Amino acid sequence: MDDRRLRALMLGPPGSGKGTQGERLALRHGVPHLSSGEMLRTHVRDGTELGRSAADTMRRGDLVADDVMNGIMREEVLGPNAVGGFVLDGFPRTVPQAMAAYELARRHGITFHAVVLLEVPPAELLERLAQRGRSIDRADDAAGTIGHRIDVYVENTRPLVEYYDDREILVRVDATGTIDEVTAAINAQLDRIIPPPPPPT
Ligand code: AP5
Repeated sequence: MDDRRLRALMLGPPGSGKGTQGERLALRHGVPHLSSGEMLRTHVRDGTELGRSAADTMRRGDLVADDVMNGIMREEVLGPNAVGGFVLDGFPRTVPQAMAAYELARRHGITFHAVVLLEVPPAELLERLAQRGRSIDRADDAAGTIGHRIDVYVENTRPLVEYYDDREILVRVDATGTIDEVTAAINAQLDRIIPPPPPPT
């Protein structure tokens, strides 16, 4: 396992920019961006058995069961796409998922370099997601669902902040600026932990 390639997790409430920033970070470090939400939405679009069983849960803004998520992530994180490094966005999202991720990592000799926590106040999250809901068709951006997704985050996912802080890999980022400002803030902190590879000549 190449330890010079970034292995980071993106953590933060819905609308905090995990997808936007996770993609940029992955590009900068030349590693894949693995988004649990995108994987699930692909299953829903393709009408797979998993997609059919997850669709209603996702539309309501609830979490898909831990054992289902742990199974998907086991395949993705250890699959051929992710060899050497990755930016994992949206997983883990519960303490049992974090424990499963730790166990998986331990068994395969992987360490996570950083967990990037994007901090944005609820009012701005509501505004960002309502705005996206007006232009992009995402079932869970419906007006009545956005607030519920934030509540689900507070109850199930926010405990991971302390979990990763205790393990001293949490990188807190104020994610309220422009997209470019947030990218710069993430890079400034992560470059000190693991510098990106030089750009190809
Ligand atoms: P997922 O796809 O992970 O959705 P989410 O966490 O609700 O996050 P979003 O994609 O809405 O927001 P984001 O933080 O990625 O921000 P983004 O960059 O998109 O999960 C969807 C569902 O799948 C879950 O609800 C659950 O049902 C299920 N699921 C997924 N993983 C699971 C797991 N591990 N366990 C169980 N269930 C799981 O940005 C949002 C908007 O804001 C965009 O329009 C963007 O352009 C804009 N924006 C971003 N940054 C800025 C900025 N700095 N300034 C202004 N606007 C900005």
